[in-house]
Amino acid sequence: MKKIVVALDGHSSCGKSTTAKKVAQELGYAYIDTGAMYRAVTLYFLEHYIDLTNPKKVQEALDNIEVTFHRNAKTARNEVFLNGLNVEDEIRKMYISNKVSEVSVLAPVRHAMVAEQKKMGKRRGIVMDGRDIGTAVFPDAEVKVFMTADVETRAKRRQEELLEKGQLVPYDEIVENLQKRDHIDSTREESPLRRAEDAHLLDTSHITIDEQVDFVLDLVHSALLQE
Ligand code: DC
Repeated sequence: MKKIVVALDGHSSCGKSTTAKKVAQELGYAYIDTGAMYRAVTLYFLEHYIDLTNPKKVQEALDNIEVTFHRNAKTARNEVFLNGLNVEDEIRKMYISNKVSEVSVLAPVRHAMVAEQKKMGKRRGIVMDGRDIGTAVFPDAEVKVFMTADVETRAKRRQEELLEKGQLVPYDEIVENLQKRDHIDSTREESPLRRAEDAHLLDTSHITIDEQVDFVLDLVHSALLQE
């Protein structure tokens, strides 16, 4: 059967990766969390004190970064590695969330990540979530969904997620971070967060994860029928 690309874009913490993971599992497709790639780059930049205003230093750093995904057989999770080191837990921390949008606006960072993501999905059969998958990475994706939810719902979900990882972060701090990131992500020059014209809108404020997954799978099945 023909393999397609499923692009899930949208605002921060509206359930993109949970949905993407389940959809990929259901289809037997690979899943790529592109936010994790920007987070890993941010971690590297912070660890190496890279001056974000110096394009030469930024490019040099990018040349030294390799971000890969490996499946953890125990947890069945796809985990992210930075230059061979597992950084899955580190990149989810608040200090990375607070910096990642600033790093993601940089054109050389975007060019490197988008090129890498195109390579990863070259053979199709992939579910990718992010901010610019349906617009910049795979404008020809057969299924495009733009996900959103009200900020209170997103902040509550994010707070619970962080708590599960042992991080107690005040609700207001999370709201502020989500709003700031959404603003920077939507207003940057290079591949900003926006809904592709042919993307289906999915508001997850009042629906369950299973409903989100079914929404996407229905679109996938229709797309496959058209092939
Ligand atoms: O999906 P996430 O919240 O883990 O993403 C972290 C940040 O990475 C997000 O605030 C913006 C950036 N990002 C991006 O610019 N483009 C993508 N395709 C994915 C994420």
